[in-house]
Amino acid sequence: MFFVYNILNSEEEFSGVQKSLMSRNYFGGHMNILEVNAPAKINLSLDVIRKREDGYHDLKMIMQTVSLYDTVLMEESGEGFTIECDGRFDPFGTENTVYKAAELLFSQFGIKRGLKIRLIKRIPVAAGLAGGSTDAAAVIRGINSMFTLGMTTAEMEKAGKSVGADVPYCIEGGTALAEGIGEILTRIPLFNEVDIVILRPKIGVSTPWVFKNLKLDRISERPDTDLLISSIRDRNITRMAENMVNVLETVTIPEYPVVDAAKKRLLELGAAGSIMSGSGPSVFGIFSDRDKAAYAAERLLADPEWDSFLVQTI
Ligand code: C5P
Repeated sequence: MFFVYNILNSEEEFSGVQKSLMSRNYFGGHMNILEVNAPAKINLSLDVIRKREDGYHDLKMIMQTVSLYDTVLMEESGEGFTIECDGRFDPFGTENTVYKAAELLFSQFGIKRGLKIRLIKRIPVAAGLAGGSTDAAAVIRGINSMFTLGMTTAEMEKAGKSVGADVPYCIEGGTALAEGIGEILTRIPLFNEVDIVILRPKIGVSTPWVFKNLKLDRISERPDTDLLISSIRDRNITRMAENMVNVLETVTIPEYPVVDAAKKRLLELGAAGSIMSGSGPSVFGIFSDRDKAAYAAERLLADPEWDSFLVQTI
């Protein structure tokens, strides 16, 4: 089979994150296949402002995409949509974010053409890295592009919000301040090409459980979000790394001490700062020196307690 490889936009005018989010279209014979990248995110800070009437929490967090990807492959085929995945989670569960995203767009736009969705997972699930949210966002971008629905970014973000609180951010990724339940997004200068090591203890943590057990009046240390944003503007990696705070650690760490052990290990190996991402259990360390990051990652690969990933911010 002969495929014509066609990147949908000219690459030169785009930043790293925009390039990483582009879909690639392969046309060959009667096949129309789209490949969409779905990058993981980390939280450079996470503050919880208040509990809302609807049970959710108002947050204030700095989000950042990193170069660890799932891949979503889409192919026009049959009727309705099917989802296949390489193991690790139930592809047919209707609670699954990919299912919810596809179902939403198929019904909203009355799509009659068929779609086969194949997911290649590399981002660990239930890990605080937005794996499920980024897959859903990629499915929204992919369906919009494949069936030329003409949705704007704002419309895709709105659709994403009904799938999950982190999905709107994942539509565009990059560096952003997320407020509300995560859907009010303000772009900040890209904090790209920073060396990061992610450690993911081999446990799953339930996000609803973490929020349910959060005691807002017992939080003593909160992130200074303005200081962090100014550190990003100045590209002061050390000041950024030393001032990162995630208030959800107050729930996750007492229950899972391995999360704290992972942070300490990263600091021992030369990280300039280390915090938990999202509701955990993944933690990450920021390195101001690429060789140190590579050395740390190599040492950590041998550790059976956690999975490690050497990545860069994009
Ligand atoms: O929207 P998502 O499914 O990602 O959220 C999972 C759970 O996390 C919610 O059911 C809620 O319990 C909690 N959550 C919250 N406040 C947020 C985001 C999530 O309380 N802003």
